[in-house]
Amino acid sequence: MDTLRLGVNIDHVATIRNARGGDHPDPVRAARLAAGAGADGITAHLREDRRHISDHDINRLTSEISIPLNLEMAATEEMLEIALRHKPNAACIVPEKRQEVTTEGGLDAIGGFDHLQTYVSRLRERRIRVSLFLDPESGQLEAAAKLGADIVEMHTGAYVEAVGEKRAAELQKLRQCAAYGAELGLEMHAGHGLTFETVGEVAAIPQVVELNIGHFLVGEAIFSGLDSSIRRMRALMDEARARAAGIKSA
Ligand code: PXP
Repeated sequence: MDTLRLGVNIDHVATIRNARGGDHPDPVRAARLAAGAGADGITAHLREDRRHISDHDINRLTSEISIPLNLEMAATEEMLEIALRHKPNAACIVPEKRQEVTTEGGLDAIGGFDHLQTYVSRLRERRIRVSLFLDPESGQLEAAAKLGADIVEMHTGAYVEAVGEKRAAELQKLRQCAAYGAELGLEMHAGHGLTFETVGEVAAIPQVVELNIGHFLVGEAIFSGLDSSIRRMRALMDEARARAAGIKSA
């Protein structure tokens, strides 16, 4: 059975810290705790407006954390320079609008092909693995493969927000895209908005090798603690994966 990695996104630990200024709660402490609770990697989004993660957090994460860092970044010269300087394990290119509350949709790898080309190649030249955050659409996957991206992270927001038959249809899109992406040679990841309730179906998709989860884990930590929320998520992912593999081999 292929293993499924958990990337814990610590942005919203920084959101809480920044609500009061100062240095508590410390996202790097959260990253260390996440590693101990079963996270395989840490994800952090350095936004243009620095609303949560700061440049100093990225400095510390690259020097103080032993598990891989996935740096989420917009395709801008400023962010490229930061990524090349810090050399995270992976850089996930995401769309970024100043006014949005969160990353609302995937990147347009078709429309933005020419612009993205330089970013993908310059990151890869530095041996930084490149991930593109995309909606689960076959044309977007084809563009990602043509761009030479290593990874596609499928945006799970539409799946998480849909109900009933619509959710089933969104799940089907994720399944088909994961299979098609793997056929194109892309490593398939998924994330955005995942919760204890929604993680299982995505974890059961065999081609998905990593999930990136943040907001729900940090929110749930208010009630049960961060260690416990990460451990429970990890267990739900592993159970869903094992169940799906068992069904397939039965
Ligand atoms: N993956 C990507 C590319 C993201 O931009 C985000 C949100 O920052 C996540 C995963 C995690 O989403 P959430 O915080 O909703 O779990």
